[in-house]
Amino acid sequence: IDSSPKIPSAVPHISTPNPSSGASTPNIKRVSDFKFGEILGEGSYSTVLTATENSTKREYAIKVLDKRHIIKEKKEKYVNIEKEALCILSKHPGFIKLFYTFQDAHNLYFVLSLARNGELLDYINKLGRFNEICAQYYAALIVDSIDYMHGRGVIHRDLKPENILLDDNMRTKITDFGSAKILNSSHGSHEEDTHHADKPQAHSRSFVGTARYVSPEVLSDKIAGTASDIWAFGCILFQMLAGKPPFVAGNEYLTFQSILHLSYEIPPDISDVASDLIKKLLVLDPKDRLTVDEIHQHPFFNGIKFDNTLWELPPPRL
Ligand code: ADE
Repeated sequence: IDSSPKIPSAVPHISTPNPSSGASTPNIKRVSDFKFGEILGEGSYSTVLTATENSTKREYAIKVLDKRHIIKEKKEKYVNIEKEALCILSKHPGFIKLFYTFQDAHNLYFVLSLARNGELLDYINKLGRFNEICAQYYAALIVDSIDYMHGRGVIHRDLKPENILLDDNMRTKITDFGSAKILNSSHGSHEEDTHHADKPQAHSRSFVGTARYVSPEVLSDKIAGTASDIWAFGCILFQMLAGKPPFVAGNEYLTFQSILHLSYEIPPDISDVASDLIKKLLVLDPKDRLTVDEIHQHPFFNGIKFDNTLWELPPPRL
């Protein structure tokens, strides 16, 4: 099996300062440059581990992707999109940063920022729910990240509290762009990617993992746009405030039915402003959902300034 073509290049695509390498030496990392530690997460064809770079002692999360498995499952395109999306978003504090990529005979390696505090989901579950101050703060970081992402032509398509990590400072970093769509790029945003209906592997892709954050338009016509991320944001805001996602049912089919019927209930102790925002996000027709600009203006975010200072604010105590 020839595993070399179609696989992302091993050339580091982000120039990071590295005092040990001269300007003319291409700075390609390899496995022996790192000491690998614990496993942070496992996917179907990838594993994320902590790793320390031997020369700098800097700590990273390294995503190891199994080339043979990627090729067998025809996921090359998605691996490339994931890498491209991470590169596009690497300058914003709300995203996991891609520092280097390299490969060996068996694997691709993505060297990523380490989000030491793990998943937002774990904090929601540990605390039961967030108070409105905390929910407002975390929702603001997430909206600001979505705003930047959509401005750069990236639709995540799998936003959920498992994909929102927390760094040392307890600020959010969105990760896992393996389902993303990049608009106006060489990957194409039209036939092959918007309509999943007649592509079995693409179709099943949309429904692996959790179904709870899938927007109604993706369920009914398989077309995900920026508004689909806004729907997922509505589900995440609901979950922070209520302690559980809005659409939960005994199985996937029933979950889809509740989504398509907009069958959810806001707990009565949630404030009127928060309820109002949730109701304007969880709207069946994507055209009628709030836009990012309208979300910024919503009274739930009174007192929050959506500019650079947002990422300097001290996080409220969870
Ligand atoms: N799990 C998956 N990716 C991670 C990362 N970059 N940091 C911490 N945990 C992770």
